[in-house]
Amino acid sequence: MIRAGIYGATGYTGIELARLLDQHPRVTTVFATARSAAGQRLSDVFPTTLDLPLIAAEEADLSQVDVVFCCLPHGTTVPTVQQALAAGVRVVDLSADFRLRRAEEYERWYGSTHSAPHLLETAVYGLPEVYREDIAQAQLVANPGCYPTSVILPLLPLVRANLLADATVIADSKSGISGAGRSLSLKTHFSETHENFSAYNIGRSHRHIAEMDQETGLSVIFSPHLLPVVRGILSTLYITLLPDTPAARVHEVYATMFADEPFVTVLPDGRLPELRHVVGNNQCVIGIKPVALAPERCIVVSVIDNLLKGASGQAVQNMNIMFGLEETLGLL
Ligand SMILES: NC(=O)c1ccc[n+]([C@@H]2O[C@H](COP(=O)([O-])OP(=O)(O)OC[C@H]3O[C@@H](n4cnc5c(N)ncnc54)[C@H](OP(=O)(O)O)[C@@H]3O)[C@@H](O)[C@H]2O)c1
Repeated sequence: MIRAGIYGATGYTGIELARLLDQHPRVTTVFATARSAAGQRLSDVFPTTLDLPLIAAEEADLSQVDVVFCCLPHGTTVPTVQQALAAGVRVVDLSADFRLRRAEEYERWYGSTHSAPHLLETAVYGLPEVYREDIAQAQLVANPGCYPTSVILPLLPLVRANLLADATVIADSKSGISGAGRSLSLKTHFSETHENFSAYNIGRSHRHIAEMDQETGLSVIFSPHLLPVVRGILSTLYITLLPDTPAARVHEVYATMFADEPFVTVLPDGRLPELRHVVGNNQCVIGIKPVALAPERCIVVSVIDNLLKGASGQAVQNMNIMFGLEETLGLL
């Protein structure tokens, strides 16, 4: 059995991870840490039947685990990651702290100096569809952000096939409220979000743009929205293709890139994905639609569950790859 530890088990991604690991046939959860709820049990602080004891991070015994998952806010993970790596434990970090390759980019987007820039060189960006072989060898995997997963996956086939006429792409995304985490805030308060719909950080201001640009080589204009549902992200990408690109060629590059991917589904021509395709599963579902009367344009829509393919599901997928297990184990 693979022995796992979870840091930040009382957050939305931590709870989802605890649930996934509990049903995983090859993993046992050795410890789960909490900050304010240390000393309680997971079932005391969340409506779950998982009765995991919660300990303070300082009490976690790294000699008893093979892998840890860091489900902590960005800017807080570096000491934990360093301790785990020093103890020979492999790490999947769900925060943004190791996703950017250049420390200057981290500073630019996150507003503080990175305290372990040397680790950025060794961290592997945990998008299995792109970095599967590197993930298998990695000590530290930086699990991608939720919005970036929903934008990068549907852009890559067009980038790789050189079908884009314009390196600037518009991504219009809508996320369920759990994307903002479990901490209370006015912005995510029920009476502020229920029966409401709003855009925020639009243009070139959301931090997730850094990952999108890094992984696609494009310049993404990004409009995130807060959708009054608990989970799920739907991203709509507005694409300008090279002149005379046949619609069939566009579909073909998607079908080819994702043919053997267990967690990416490309819908048949003209069919569009919706949140119900993915809420509760680890899929990214993509639909492609040519624009009538504007043959050089197409619109690509992708959906993921932000807490699964956008976070904890992808983290388990990465762990499976790191330990040489069937990639889909515990996720189907
Ligand atoms: N939510 C998503 O859809 C999603 C998707 C992809 C990636 N992520 C990333 O995954 C990480 C966790 O997200 P989340 O949504 O699960 O967050 P969350 O619900 O806010 O939970 C954060 C967890 O970290 C603990 N914590 C908070 N501040 C801490 C600190 N200073 N030191 C140690 N522990 C602290 C919290 O404990 P207390 O309850 O005691 O504060 C809680 O257990 C974040 O970096 C986030 O950006 C989230």
